[in-house]
Amino acid sequence: MTFPVTLTVNGEPRRLDLEDARVTLLDALRERMGLTGTKKGCDRGQCGACTVLVDGRRINSCLTLAVSLDGASVTTIEGLAKGDALHPVQAAFIAHDGFQCGFCTPGQIMSAVAFLDEVKGCGTLDPDRVREGMSGNLCRCGAYQGILDAVIAAHEAAHEGVLQREDAA
Ligand code: FES
Ligand code: FES
Repeated sequence: MTFPVTLTVNGEPRRLDLEDARVTLLDALRERMGLTGTKKGCDRGQCGACTVLVDGRRINSCLTLAVSLDGASVTTIEGLAKGDALHPVQAAFIAHDGFQCGFCTPGQIMSAVAFLDEVKGCGTLDPDRVREGMSGNLCRCGAYQGILDAVIAAHEAAHEGVLQREDAA
């Protein structure tokens, strides 16, 4: 007996026939689809390394059964850049040294993308609001200051874009 699951992953339709209903989305991505950018840290919902977007919302893919997501749209770190053009949050992490070893970085970036969508109407972002919003993503290297700077910079860049569009209107 297999368990069919149809997903849209990074804009591409994917069908899986899982041999076990207990396969997590994380294992489906890494071991069935070869999308190893999403990392397995704790495998129990404590570190955030496995964060992906499902229908635009961030989740820990290690805690989510793939069969429960039939029909969902999943975005992983591999789906953020457009060709050679990095997503603005990816670019901000590079510009602000938001990583050291890089293991937590895909999860940090996916979480930051969702967090910035959650706060997109806000003007200035309070650093404590960012720390709270990103608190589900741990970094064993302690690159927290760079991560904080990157998230705030990406928010400011997006907000300035809105202001510029409003000015031009
Ligand atoms: S691997 Fe999923 S939260 Fe740590
Ligand atoms: S950059 Fe190494 S764990 Fe975060």
